[in-house]
Amino acid sequence: MDIHEVYLVTFSPTRTSKQVGDAIVRGIGCSKVINIDLTLSAIERCDIPQDALTVISVPVYGGHVAPLALERMKEIHANGSPVVLVVVYGNRAYEKALVDLDTFASGLGFKVIAGATFVGEHSYSSEKYPVAVGRPDAEDLQFAELFGQKILAKVANAADMEKLYGVDVTRIQRPRQPFFPLFRFMRKILKLRKSGVPFPRTPKVDADLCTHCGICVKNCPTGAILKGDECNTITEKCIKCCACVKRCPQKARTYDTPFAPLLAEHFKRQKEDRIII
Ligand SMILES: Cc1cc2nc3c(=O)[nH]c(=O)nc-3n(C[C@H](O)[C@H](O)[C@H](O)COP(=O)(O)O)c2cc1C
Ligand code: SF4
Ligand code: SF4
Repeated sequence: MDIHEVYLVTFSPTRTSKQVGDAIVRGIGCSKVINIDLTLSAIERCDIPQDALTVISVPVYGGHVAPLALERMKEIHANGSPVVLVVVYGNRAYEKALVDLDTFASGLGFKVIAGATFVGEHSYSSEKYPVAVGRPDAEDLQFAELFGQKILAKVANAADMEKLYGVDVTRIQRPRQPFFPLFRFMRKILKLRKSGVPFPRTPKVDADLCTHCGICVKNCPTGAILKGDECNTITEKCIKCCACVKRCPQKARTYDTPFAPLLAEHFKRQKEDRIII
């Protein structure tokens, strides 16, 4: 089977899912790539042609696909065309995310022919509390490209759409997770929740550092920061994605969640990327 175009669908506030998606598409090596980046806004109805291949790469929030990613994908319609599903998580766990995405993409009319779980730097990672810093790194991206090449080979070897078999993403190998750090993490999370320590609902801003450059306004996926009022955040709109924190050139924005030290302490061991094809 020949593939004439590849659709890359992403939602990626801190750009790790986008980097992984780009590397997979590089590996597929198709000359026509249509980028559908849903990070800043949704799209109008989009019908994916039957002979196109789609790659969807989205982040994990709370063990599920980031809800806004799903919301913004609702207008994509496929008529049995093949899709590759990728979830990117911050080295803790992706839990139900890949299965969620499989159910959702199947509902949009896609045929799932491959899946993957990749690690990206945690949105809450900071200099003080590093979590999966720098990932996806060169090795992850090389692995992603190789995955793209394998996808290309799978498609090329299928005589037609009927012969391009689907995969059961529940059979993907889980990354290794030592029991005791996980157990200690869970215990501390329970204690933290019981203690009633407040979880910040938005990043905080140091007004002395802010130069009102507007970078955070442009990169906020939900419009939670208004031009001219960059030192505030609209609580009801904020999804705590940390795009503004990571992009602020002055380090004026920080998100100090009590989760961060626990993540940094208990998920030091770097997890492996996994694929199923
Ligand atoms: C609200 C929120 C919830 C998250 N939940 C998880 C999680 O359950 N497990 C995990 O390993 N990482 C979690 N992360 C980290 C992200 O999945 C990870 O940093 C990912 O690389 C971000 O993707 P992006 O760069 O495309 O935005 C969470 C991040 C945010 C902002
Ligand atoms: S990116 Fe940082 S410095 Fe620029 S407006 Fe936003 S908070 Fe201020
Ligand atoms: S204000 Fe909230 S939603 Fe907007 S970029 Fe910052 S953390 Fe994300």
